Amino acid sequence: MRSKIIVTGGCGYIGSHTAIELIENDFDVVILDDLSNSTEKTISRIHKITGVTPTFVKVDLKDSLATSKVFETHKDAVGVIHFAAHKAVGESVQKPLMYYKNNFYSLLNTLEAQSEHGINNFIFSSSATVYGTPNMLPITENNETQRPFSPYGNTKKIAEEILDDFTKSSDSFSAISLRYFNPIGAHPSGEIGELPNGIPNNLMPYITQTAAGVRDKLMVYGNDYPTKDGTPIRDYIHVVDLAKAHVIAVKRLLKKEQEESLEFFNLGTGVGYSVLDVINSFEDVTNSKLNYEITGRRDGDVPQLYASTDLAKEKLGWSADRELNDMISSSWNWEQNLRSKQN
Ligand code: UD1
Repeated sequence: MRSKIIVTGGCGYIGSHTAIELIENDFDVVILDDLSNSTEKTISRIHKITGVTPTFVKVDLKDSLATSKVFETHKDAVGVIHFAAHKAVGESVQKPLMYYKNNFYSLLNTLEAQSEHGINNFIFSSSATVYGTPNMLPITENNETQRPFSPYGNTKKIAEEILDDFTKSSDSFSAISLRYFNPIGAHPSGEIGELPNGIPNNLMPYITQTAAGVRDKLMVYGNDYPTKDGTPIRDYIHVVDLAKAHVIAVKRLLKKEQEESLEFFNLGTGVGYSVLDVINSFEDVTNSKLNYEITGRRDGDVPQLYASTDLAKEKLGWSADRELNDMISSSWNWEQNLRSKQN
């Protein structure tokens, strides 16, 4: 019997890559997505890559009745990986209530519906943003969390606190919160990748769109940080490595290997690259010049963030394999495919 996993937000960037890894590890996958920031075409692309069509249900998880119905239908599932959330930092500053409403209603309805049906394993899609401006590097899971700069980030921090309360209140419910550093890259097939809605906020889609001629110029937000070249340092991680960590985390819950009812793991490579490192590598990999200009700092950016990867290595037996060049070439491959299909 194959075990069934519900993937909320499974048509999105990280959700779709995780669905593929789950299928390749013999799980049955049910994707729940409202398609507010993704496309149903992802389902056929997953089929093209894996030969399997995951079950897809279009549902708005803010709707508690609809959520409860879907979980009733799929009550034989053994776990949930919860990606469904709004994620644009800038937009969350403009529309905080929309972010709090969407991210919390979806989370609470999912937790309620799954536990009503005895589905007691939960993986949460969190972010390194919960560390705020860290006072120690590399960042270990023991670093204190701080109120993040943006409402988006705050939804991640508060969600972890909700999970802490909920897992403590239950004898049977277990959760793992995975704190992503900076996911970039795309599936090697070029079939799926990041599809930013409108003007990208994040560095890599902005770079690839600039190189593809969709954007005129990349603005580099500040070169006066206390780093080797003055630009901020981040821990970029390949989305396929990230997706694989979710499968390992699910298996840990299913095998009841977790040591606490709520565990936290950093998902990064442990290596920091500056914005200029990323630009230079992009130019090397693609053998082209990128149009960019240094401008002022962006509000909320911290100088340096990179993960300690020890805990994930020790407890999950997971570490990232893919290098920056691979992340960049797969992102670029995806961008080119996207333009050629005019999606
Ligand atoms: C942001 C969010 C994080 C979220 C992540 C993935 C914050 C503080 N961080 O991370 O919570 O999980 O996105 O969505 O809210 N840069 C430029 N020009 C650009 C875009 C970015 O110079 O056009 C620079 C930024 O200043 C930063 C680096 O590139 O130094 C990475 O930026 P970005 O990709 O947006 O990720 P983070 O801000 O690290």
